[in-house]
Amino acid sequence: MSAFGGSRGRAKGYVLVASGAFAMKKYVVLALRTALCSLARLYAALMRLWSLVLYVLRRQVRTIIQHQTVRYDILSLSPASRHRISQVSRKILVLDLDETLIHSHHDGMVRTMVRPGTPPDFILKVVIDKHPVRFFVHKRPHVDFFLEVVSQWFELVVFTASMEIYGSAVADRLDNNRGFLYRRYYRQHCTVEMGSYTKNLSAVHADLASIIILDNSPSAYRGHPDNAIPIKSWFSDPSDTALLNLLPMLDALRFTADVRSVLSRNLHQHRLW
Ligand SMILES: *[C@@H]1O[C@H](CO)[C@@H](O)[C@H](O)[C@H]1NC(C)=O
Repeated sequence: MSAFGGSRGRAKGYVLVASGAFAMKKYVVLALRTALCSLARLYAALMRLWSLVLYVLRRQVRTIIQHQTVRYDILSLSPASRHRISQVSRKILVLDLDETLIHSHHDGMVRTMVRPGTPPDFILKVVIDKHPVRFFVHKRPHVDFFLEVVSQWFELVVFTASMEIYGSAVADRLDNNRGFLYRRYYRQHCTVEMGSYTKNLSAVHADLASIIILDNSPSAYRGHPDNAIPIKSWFSDPSDTALLNLLPMLDALRFTADVRSVLSRNLHQHRLW
């Protein structure tokens, strides 16, 4: 073998190595790209899994909050209390729905107050102007317990400024065949005053001494501030306890001769929430 041949062989070898390196580079780039693609796919899949986990978790947490044991013992009345309550008339508690007991949004709403991914407690299908509309309804925390307790103390009345077709469906779901939300007033029973719906309590009951209204909107009870219990508007806060916090006061109000003698002292609270 001549030295020339050997060097030619080396040169050939170099070319081979060079083209091999080129192919290798192409291969590495391709492999990298493939790896990146599958990484991105893996990431997307992981994110989907994570949001599913969050969804389930949130649902779980909400269920726990809704059904956590609340200690508010309904004690049987003492003879003195029984005597007292026999002397006053059974009172009426008027309940607003939206942002007091529930919050809902419907199809096609661009912005909602509910955190994305929070599942509704129930969905209502309502036909409005011949268009089917789905309402996603979220229950205020403790609403079931609240209704169960106060229905033993008061005659309950639903008074909502919403349309009857929607309001009656919500009331039906909250009532859940327990039968204590059967008296209902809707938008057509409201009076429009200064551009907002006002609820005329005299239409519900003639004796204003024994009627209480629970409403997040002060304009709703503009005509009856001394009958009102203000409550903060609720949209989505899962740790809200406003309904629970009202139980002691409502428990006591049963015994008063005239609810206005107590609730008129609440006036400093009557600001627009
Ligand atoms: C409220 O209702 C009562 C009884 O139905 C009625 O006499 C009164 O005029 C109403 N008030 C308003 C402001 O509509």
